[in-house]
Amino acid sequence: MNIKFVVLTDKNYHDYKDLLYKFELTLYDHQKALYKGYFPEFQFNTIKDKHANIVIFQDKDKPFGYIIYKIFNKLWVTELYFNEDYRGKGLLKQVVKYLVNICTKKKIPTIALGALNTNKSAIISYTACGFVITSVNVDSCVLELPIEFYNRRKQ
Ligand SMILES: CC(C)(COP(=O)(O)OP(=O)(O)OC[C@H]1O[C@@H](n2cnc3c(N)ncnc32)[C@H](O)[C@@H]1OP(=O)(O)O)[C@@H](O)C(=O)NCCC(=O)NCCS
Repeated sequence: MNIKFVVLTDKNYHDYKDLLYKFELTLYDHQKALYKGYFPEFQFNTIKDKHANIVIFQDKDKPFGYIIYKIFNKLWVTELYFNEDYRGKGLLKQVVKYLVNICTKKKIPTIALGALNTNKSAIISYTACGFVITSVNVDSCVLELPIEFYNRRKQ
């Protein structure tokens, strides 16, 4: 299956707003379940943040997930979510390729993201796509994928 990437803009934002809210809530529940202890109160700030780029994943016309990323010196993925029935199907590498293309166009050297240490399956999936853990904190870790490394790895 090829993911259809739908970039959220001011024009189509209202068509996807409720769906995005539902996805964010589900991701929040998922993370809360993984968290063994205090979990900060969820704020729906990301989707209002002007630095946030939001892309919906669709299977033809059916939305099944989304990504939110911000571009600074690195491309930072702040949220990434697939509906359960779309996990474990090897779709993550299409998302990674999509992000690599953005980085190449904008000359951004690295993709970075944070994951809860308890979210083992996500960490395994990211590392299988070429990410490496670059720092570990008490409850979470940072994984990074240098674009140069991705391009060399593909050959
Ligand atoms: C995190 C998430 C987006 C990853 O997507 P996914 O569907 O699990 O990823 P994929 O199936 O594409 O797996 C990626 C790679 O990891 C490999 N992989 C996954 N689990 C594996 C395991 N247990 N052992 C070995 N390899 C594994 C896959 O084989 C695949 O490699 P391939 O493309 O070469 O075949 C998805 O699981 C998700 O939405 N989870 C819930 C929300 C979440 O946790 N978000 C992340 C917050 S940081």
